[in-house]
Amino acid sequence: MNVPIARNDQADRLRAMTMGRRSKVISIGSGKGGVGKTNLAVNLAIALARRGAQVVLVDADLGLANVDVVLGLNPPYTLDHVVRGERTLREVLVGGPLEIQVLPGASGLPEMADLHPAKRRYLLQELEGLEESTDILLIDAAPGIGRQVLSFLLASDEVLIVTTPEPTAVTDAYALIKLLYRHPSCPEVRLVVNMARDLRDAQEVALKLGLVARHYLGRWVGMAGAVPLDPNLPLAVRRQVPLVLSHPSSPASRAIAELAEVLLGSRPVKGTGWAARLGAPLAQEGGEAYPPA
Ligand SMILES: Nc1ncnc2c1ncn2[C@@H]1O[C@H](COP(=O)(O)OP(=O)(O)OP(=O)(O)O)[C@@H](O)[C@H]1O
Ligand SMILES: [Mg+2]
Repeated sequence: MNVPIARNDQADRLRAMTMGRRSKVISIGSGKGGVGKTNLAVNLAIALARRGAQVVLVDADLGLANVDVVLGLNPPYTLDHVVRGERTLREVLVGGPLEIQVLPGASGLPEMADLHPAKRRYLLQELEGLEESTDILLIDAAPGIGRQVLSFLLASDEVLIVTTPEPTAVTDAYALIKLLYRHPSCPEVRLVVNMARDLRDAQEVALKLGLVARHYLGRWVGMAGAVPLDPNLPLAVRRQVPLVLSHPSSPASRAIAELAEVLLGSRPVKGTGWAARLGAPLAQEGGEAYPPA
């Protein structure tokens, strides 16, 4: 699939910004499964590309990969071939929409879900080799707190932890953050609250989690973005066409576009756009107060 949408002049600006620097590695993780990581990763990759970034999307849910399914791709090789030494990373890369490049994972291979540490190191080293030829390496990680997940998240420049407003997802997100924060070289960690009822709902979730983290772990966790529950998203998954392409004006698409701008540094974290569209004045939302003094 190749959807012809022109890259705009932001591409040149971004290229100039990143020239001579290695790319930014952003991982997407979650404590609980099924909270929307893969759909966020796929749509965010496209939203970033739309803003001029060169993106490599890595399916690091190595045992049960499905980035390729959400994108409607049928890749001949996966990261399993790389780990087995049969293909190089560049041979496994497949083109996606808006010139994003995808490193597909294998599905149904338990040995990939729990790689021998030496193989995991090899894979991370290989990925490092890609950093010079792209702006953003976006990693869709497996859910949970396993060593493999932690090694991907800790090898990143920034980690986005996805949670829904459900207490089970929030508790598991906290457990993952706790493990990450224990690590001396933990990268920046921010929350994305997915399937939120509205912005207030998302902000309440993020505020509670942030306060608990600050109290018990001595470190705040902020919110990078919020994505509303959007009935068009499951439809897009069924059609295997990412939401930001099939429904660019849908609420979740707009929220993901805002998140892309936050990650590229061209928009402060406020969610003002979404709040305004919902008719919820930000003043009532307490959204300016992140992190609280
Ligand atoms: N904002 C949203 N609105 C409505 N449905 C959503 C939203 N985000 C995700 N979903 C639905 O939630 C389901 C799970 O999404 P997804 O596969 O992206 O989660 P995941 O965190 O990657 O799961 P896993 O942990 O198994 O890898 C999908 O069926 C998707 O359609
Ligand atoms: Mg997933």
